[in-house]
Amino acid sequence: MNIKVLTLFPDMFTALDHSIVGRAQEDARIHLEYINFRDYSTNRHGRVDDSPYGGGAGMLLTPQPVFDAVAALPKANRRIIAMTPTGQRFDQTVAEEWARESELVFLCGHYEGFDQRIHDELVTDEVSLGDFVLTGGELAAMTMIDAVVRLLPDVLGKSASHEDDSFSTGLLEYPHYTRPADYNGLRVPDVLLSGNHAKIEQWRRQQALKRTLERRPDLLETADLSASDLKYLQS
Ligand code: ADE
Repeated sequence: MNIKVLTLFPDMFTALDHSIVGRAQEDARIHLEYINFRDYSTNRHGRVDDSPYGGGAGMLLTPQPVFDAVAALPKANRRIIAMTPTGQRFDQTVAEEWARESELVFLCGHYEGFDQRIHDELVTDEVSLGDFVLTGGELAAMTMIDAVVRLLPDVLGKSASHEDDSFSTGLLEYPHYTRPADYNGLRVPDVLLSGNHAKIEQWRRQQALKRTLERRPDLLETADLSASDLKYLQS
């Protein structure tokens, strides 16, 4: 997958050079490229922002540098994704959809955001990381890139490791334990040591249901629930 990021702060993205996304770059499963749209500013001081018409606080990113930076990209059938708190909420379903693309372009705003003509003419997707306001889109883009890249084939060690993820199943994930079975008197649930796979599967499903009911009951409205799930939830 080719990922291009239009940003005024490319140095922030060194976080993606580590761990799993770093290895995905080394293994050429993804190619990440950063474009500083300040380099496209025709203003002699390299200015990219200006005050809003109609008044109000803050500065807006002006159309010219962003339009020119996008025009310089190779013409491909691609998404141009703007980071904005007024966008649609990013979630696992969006990550799964984007993971099927061959190219993604992330557009990171700063200050009060972009001139609306950038959204109207260039952007295909407007997405928000959540109901809070960041100082800029960079951390949001990094988070979304991380969530997408781990879904690409062969990026995680075991191909199954994201299939039981929280949200992929419509529920929060069940709790995990590893060795030792007894840590200073804190014991791993007996069922996990039983070797009985059917029982383990049932316990995990019930733990996922319990956790989701306690922490994110909203998810139960859209989760795919069996008759035995419903029976457990009513018990
Ligand atoms: N830029 C500022 N706040 C943001 C948010 N919540 N999501 C995405 N981009 C942003």
